[in-house]
Amino acid sequence: MTVRVPAKVNLQLAVGPVRTDGYHSLVTVFHAVSLFDEVTVAAADKTSIAVTGEDAAAVPADRSNLGWQAASALAKATGQRGTAVRIEIRKRIPVAAGLAGGSADAAATLVGCNELWQTGLSSRELADLAATLGSDVPFALVGGTAVGRGRGEHLTPALAAGTYHWALAFGLEGLSTAQVYATCDRLRAARVAAGDQPAPGEPELSHPLMTALRSGDPAQVGPLLTNDLQPAALSLQPGLRRALAAGREHGALGAIVSGSGPTCAFLARDAARARELAVALTGSGVCRAVARASGPVPGAVVVRDRDRQPS
Ligand code: C5P
Repeated sequence: MTVRVPAKVNLQLAVGPVRTDGYHSLVTVFHAVSLFDEVTVAAADKTSIAVTGEDAAAVPADRSNLGWQAASALAKATGQRGTAVRIEIRKRIPVAAGLAGGSADAAATLVGCNELWQTGLSSRELADLAATLGSDVPFALVGGTAVGRGRGEHLTPALAAGTYHWALAFGLEGLSTAQVYATCDRLRAARVAAGDQPAPGEPELSHPLMTALRSGDPAQVGPLLTNDLQPAALSLQPGLRRALAAGREHGALGAIVSGSGPTCAFLARDAARARELAVALTGSGVCRAVARASGPVPGAVVVRDRDRQPS
């Protein structure tokens, strides 16, 4: 059973105060883009995991892998305890990049094992299980464009028209999500103490962004992209400022750090402009590599089932 699963960018990421469980309450607009990992699951005598492709060496190939955790959580929840599975992850989504690659792999493993074991779980039950694995995992199941609340796991679909074309500039080194949130808190606390800003209130959805998304016009959407984690990501990796500036100089309609970074996402007017932007960014030497992607795309889907369709 092979499942294809997309990366995400956040079109809005509004971060509120820290909750009692240590997470931040947030409102985010998730947008799934056409940069995919593939996960194959197959019945086996012993559970194992193998990771190949982009940044594979940076991904643990053991029980700590989110894919392995997803398989065990599903086995436990559905009485398949002890059922072994071979998990193969082919990565194209860079690791620790703010693109939710690990969450994507967890979602793909859930979908693959759910099919393999014919558990009969409803999509609601699968989404609840996904939320226990990570804040972004439920979104990777559904994809598209969706508003996330809570710590990101409570989703409602967003009305978005059209296709958006992106250039994604990958950073030289990864960023830890937890460290970026902690830095965001520290920067905010310093500004509050200095009297420069009030303590953060509950985050709110950007209605101008939602209206722009319904128009399907990237020129309206571009200037409305926002990310409250961006100052923290920039303070941890100051070089990202150059990448954002280079994208704007080369005509990006919007330039933003994706999630906790360090990937920078640049919105282009159309596919041709995204290609030009990607070439210009590659030549400017401000990032490790550049990919083009478009969105929205669907979440985790089975692309090959060896039992039904020989490959
Ligand atoms: O949910 P997930 O495991 O992907 O989150 C990784 C880390 O990001 C958390 O341990 C936490 O430090 C931070 N986080 C947060 N608030 C959120 C989501 C994530 O503080 N809403």
